[in-house]
Amino acid sequence: MTQPSRPQDGRAALASFVTNRLGRTNARPAPVETKAPPTDESAQDFEKLTGYRELRLQRSAADLIGLGNPFFRVHETRAGANTRIEGQAYSNYSSYDYLGLNGHPAVSGAARKAIEAFGTSASASRIVAGERPGHLKLERALAAHYGTDGCVIMVSGHATNVTAIGAMLEAPDVIFHDALIHNSVVTGAQLSGAQRRSFAHNDPAALEKLLEATRHEHRRALIVVEGLYSMDGDAPDLAAFVELKRRYDCWLMVDDAHGLGVLGRTGAGLHEHCGVEASDVDIWMGTLSKTLSSCGGYICGPSALIEYLKCTAGGFVYSVGMSPPLAAAAEAALSVMQAEPERVERLRRNGNQFLALAKKHGLNTGSSLGLAVIPIIVGDSLKAVTLSDRLFKRGINVQPIIHPAVPERSSRLRFFMTSEHTPEQIAQTVATVAEELSALETGATLIEQLMARRGA
Ligand SMILES: Cc1ncc(COP(=O)(O)O)c(C=O)c1O
Repeated sequence: MTQPSRPQDGRAALASFVTNRLGRTNARPAPVETKAPPTDESAQDFEKLTGYRELRLQRSAADLIGLGNPFFRVHETRAGANTRIEGQAYSNYSSYDYLGLNGHPAVSGAARKAIEAFGTSASASRIVAGERPGHLKLERALAAHYGTDGCVIMVSGHATNVTAIGAMLEAPDVIFHDALIHNSVVTGAQLSGAQRRSFAHNDPAALEKLLEATRHEHRRALIVVEGLYSMDGDAPDLAAFVELKRRYDCWLMVDDAHGLGVLGRTGAGLHEHCGVEASDVDIWMGTLSKTLSSCGGYICGPSALIEYLKCTAGGFVYSVGMSPPLAAAAEAALSVMQAEPERVERLRRNGNQFLALAKKHGLNTGSSLGLAVIPIIVGDSLKAVTLSDRLFKRGINVQPIIHPAVPERSSRLRFFMTSEHTPEQIAQTVATVAEELSALETGATLIEQLMARRGA
């Protein structure tokens, strides 16, 4: 009778299989046999993954007090200014479709044509499976938008930052970034092995102090800021960062994921908003998933950088080329954005109206400029999740942003505006938020009073 195999046996067999296979395919010398480290078997349970227990506890606590899960909701239609979830209509503030281009006839039409011509997949990495005309057309259009030598598109915005930053910097280098920079920039910095130093949000003076103290310790230096910050809806003083990058001999990279289509009179981005030449920035990064209503990311910059990334960066060389309809959709969306600046103007009007009304109701909008991203900061995570739940019951879909995405005391609801929201919809939304928040705060006070009375 055979003995039931133990998990270690399976792992050992798998390890030996992998080792042998690698040894064969890469013609490496046979590895020296080493003793496997002692393993705590239970550590191999997926339930023991760091943070999983906390996740379950949070969900159980929310279930206990009857809060629905605000995440992973299934939209039954194109989610723009409005949406439908479980058969109910909602005003929607959880979509990045800032200029209402998702589903625009020109955008969907371009995607359809690309499917007819090339199918849905580019099949493999562009370096081996070859280009599709749509890849090059989109890259040319984006490079022309920023006036750069070239552009490279990748299949995910997050992977674009990880891949590009990971490939550009090495251990002797340094990356300086805003304290609120996106996770993809931090992950790219970690991958690169360069030193990572963060400076206070939107504070060039804080960066200057860091540069003064540490720039000389490193070979290359990269400064990264965002265009419009996705949690706070504010923007950096680009001219001040350009001045610092020149004085301290650094590259300056702007992640304009939320700035394209939003910042500046025509939505060109952070440079237009700040009245700075695009060429004063070394690297323009952005995503195709927001204003351009597609999926993917881009790096626009000097030809040597683009060529280097296209030929050496792992996330490009070893990853599939962008799906042809997605490239076509993004290119068409960029054209509509450039041809119809009135969309940008409508978005601005909507954001400004939301911000002004929120302030009138005494809501805390932090440092938001009142464009595409407007937070309503309410305090702790439970309050933010409860408020979001109450608004959902009143036909408003808005996500709570809670710790660790933001500090616990500044948990918030984050409203994404689009050019397609109506003034009436915005007025009604802000009034409902103010009403529900006030009810929530009064309710809390009542519970506290009740508890105080019980204790007496
Ligand atoms: C500033 C910023 N950069 C990069 C990304 C990643 O982009 P994507 O979601 O398109 O992968 C995001 C995503 O929201 C973002 O906000």
